Amino acid sequence: MTLAVYPGSFDPLTNGHVDIISRGARLFDRIVVAILVNAEKSPLFSMAERVEIARAVFKSLPNVEVDTFEGLLVDYVERRGAQVIVRGLRAVSDFEFEFQMALMNRRLNGKIETVFMMPAEQYSYISSRLIKEVFSLGGRVHGLVPDMVEERLRAKVGQP
Ligand code: PNS
Repeated sequence: MTLAVYPGSFDPLTNGHVDIISRGARLFDRIVVAILVNAEKSPLFSMAERVEIARAVFKSLPNVEVDTFEGLLVDYVERRGAQVIVRGLRAVSDFEFEFQMALMNRRLNGKIETVFMMPAEQYSYISSRLIKEVFSLGGRVHGLVPDMVEERLRAKVGQP
């Protein structure tokens, strides 16, 4: 059984993340969405909210699990008995940082393999940071995040 871990901050979950997780759920026996505790000093969404949103969005996919982790990613992956770290690659600009992380993680634990997946092209330019910025300045993010995220953004930040 191949267990994969898809780590990130998910502040908030975007449809790009949802796309990668859905692809991962078809490829691996089980995929764990692992939300990093304290990824940012002042996240918009609390850890409890991020977990709640991800669980709600993936409630119909039984091989998707949502968990949180602290400390080194490779230690969490090892503890879970997983073999694979999944990361999304959107554009060339992602590559440098992802390459560094993948090789550092391999140096830290050579048994764990990083697998990169491309999201559908309509999500290739979105990021959690951009979603928060656009929404807070009054721009529409409909279709770029799950409906639940859009509702929560509206409740937190106000309209649009
Ligand atoms: O969603 P993000 O912010 O791109 O995710 C980054 C994340 C959580 C994958 C990365 O910061 C991470 O793995 N943090 C855990 C600490 C760690 O292992 N750092 C060394 C990575 S080489």
